[in-house]
Amino acid sequence: MFQLSETHQEIQKMARAFADKELKPIAATLDREHRYPGEQVKKLAELGLMGVAVPEDQGGAGLDNLAYAIAMEEVSRGCASTAVVMSVNNSLYCDPVMRYATLEQKKSWLEPYAAGRKLGCFALTEPGNGSDAGAASCTATLVSDAGGEVWELNGTKAWITNAYEANAAIVFATTDKALKHKGISAFLVPMPTKGLSLGKKEDKLGIRASSTANLIFENCRVPKGSLLGEPGAGFKIAMGTLDGGRIGIAAQALGIAQAALETAVEYAKERKAFGEPIAKLQAIQFKLADMAMRLEGARLLTWRAATLKDKGAKYTKEAAMAKLAASETATFVAHQAIQILGGNGYVSEYPVERNYRDARITEIYEGTSEIQRLVIAAAVLKEG
Ligand code: CAA
Repeated sequence: MFQLSETHQEIQKMARAFADKELKPIAATLDREHRYPGEQVKKLAELGLMGVAVPEDQGGAGLDNLAYAIAMEEVSRGCASTAVVMSVNNSLYCDPVMRYATLEQKKSWLEPYAAGRKLGCFALTEPGNGSDAGAASCTATLVSDAGGEVWELNGTKAWITNAYEANAAIVFATTDKALKHKGISAFLVPMPTKGLSLGKKEDKLGIRASSTANLIFENCRVPKGSLLGEPGAGFKIAMGTLDGGRIGIAAQALGIAQAALETAVEYAKERKAFGEPIAKLQAIQFKLADMAMRLEGARLLTWRAATLKDKGAKYTKEAAMAKLAASETATFVAHQAIQILGGNGYVSEYPVERNYRDARITEIYEGTSEIQRLVIAAAVLKEG
């Protein structure tokens, strides 16, 4: 566990080289212009990084979740916006389709997405419910159409990453509100499609090169066979999917933190104050020590959660711990990096202000830090 296998080291090297060459030089421009990294995502697909843990015969790279976490960190170190596009496609779209779709469904709903020719998104949150995911009020009703029965979707999904570029969404909707979370089912919805429109692109603090918008369903009809998994199993599919997604976001946070730490170290060695590089000052050394220690601890938690997932063991608590530790570490490390750079950290000539803005979302999406604490506490209380 403390020594990555040769395969994992190779993935790390490959993803790092890609991020250094193709992402780092353009990340600030993509952020400033709110420009979707289309070319970069295409190259990620060529490297097999849009479906890392999906078997090769289903369009993916045939690797595992540890490889995914490692690649995710490196991509994020280069550009956190590109990383979230990759993360949503891998963890929130391909993973549940791989686990719950029928063989027939997989041909059109998995292979092109895992290969990165198409892009997926995940529509769980609504304007009126975020943390309380079981309170979904989007509805799915079976209605008669010319060719037989179809599902009709109504309602709005909010904060959907990849909304503007996605070719399909996994949509969670209730068929019976009285059943609460047990009335929620998951649906595979093509994009664009009649009855589905997009809200405005959100103007975000960070990860500004990825799109985020509402999906608005108005009598949107999809075939009866669009159900993903069993009827009423939607909430469990969403929760299980988010367990895996939290490993991806933890890894994204690690990459942001690593990037900020590297900039801070480089700067501290060059910047002089009181006649010597500031790296010689204990005030700076103590900061660097805390940044490096917290980052390494969060990385180990992330790799452990990924390894448990690869073994088929339970990993809900471990994924929540990884995401909580890594996201709070990313904010801390980027914050400290700005402090070390002083005024230079506060302007866009250096990447740490972007790292700080990008870090912040990792404490919010795929479950806030408060939700991660609830999940961890529930497990700890159950174990005790
Ligand atoms: N895996 C499988 N099943 C699970 C589960 C898990 N991790 N967690 C809970 N369940 C099951 C329970 O076993 C229970 O099953 P039964 O009904 O059979 O008993 C059922 O789900 C309900 O469980 P709870 O009573 O614990 O559910 P709850 O309503 O109290 O909610 C929660 C628990 C942890 C707060 C949950 O709602 C949650 O995780 N909320 C956060 C939502 C979230 O992360 N949203 C992110 C949106 S996606 C996003 O951000 C994407 C993006 O764009 C990047």
